[in-house]
Amino acid sequence: MKSILVALLLGLLLLSSGCIQPKEAPIVAEKAATTEWKADGIVGESEYSRSMLLQGPARQGYSGGEMEISWKNDGEYLYLALNGSTDGWLAIGFEPLEWMKNADIILASVQAGKAMALDEYCTGNYGPHIEDTMLGGTNDIEEFGGSKGAGRTVIELKRKLDTGDRFDKSFSPGQAISIIWALSNNSDISLKHNVAYGEGIMTLT
Ligand code: HEM
Repeated sequence: MKSILVALLLGLLLLSSGCIQPKEAPIVAEKAATTEWKADGIVGESEYSRSMLLQGPARQGYSGGEMEISWKNDGEYLYLALNGSTDGWLAIGFEPLEWMKNADIILASVQAGKAMALDEYCTGNYGPHIEDTMLGGTNDIEEFGGSKGAGRTVIELKRKLDTGDRFDKSFSPGQAISIIWALSNNSDISLKHNVAYGEGIMTLT
């Protein structure tokens, strides 16, 4: 009993000292998505119904950066925009088991004016992540496009909520999806994130 009280007291002291900051969840902005969705690399004012800004601090090995995720869904499709502070690759991973393991990853970049978005799956804690098609699955990013400028890369894409591929997580309307994200200033997708990485929750409508 005494040791529990001491542990509690120490925890309170650490929290109040500012050494441990309780993490604040990012604010999710909501609006009516009234304009037509287009994979043109421009996130329109009313193109998505929800968005949130995820930030990663500068620290050893990481320059620090942010990614804004915007999304909307109907009963069949998820429409997604990733807007990251990078000239290299950016990625989102759905529902990792732990670290990066078993995350259903979308890895994207815009190089020489051409957007690419890969439907991948991560098999280990820190990779490797490879294209679903190489694991015997299917490429289920049905449409995508992107743009790059002023140190930012924007990718827009759509996929089915339930693609039927075992290397894609299946979603339902209203679901809270746990996500990971990462940015690298390298265009080479085999090179590790070096701008920022983090996690979040993306709740479907
Ligand atoms: C390109 C190849 C990649 C390699 C070699 C790689 C490697 C690693 C390594 C070694 C770590 C441990 C932490 C560190 O060393 O900084 C890590 C952590 C992490 N990676 Fe990756 N990664 C890759 C791609 C990705 C992608 C595409 C994503 C996002 C979809 C991602 C998300 C994360 C996250 C969120 C963590 C932190 C996990 C945690 O501590 O809970 N990584 N990665």
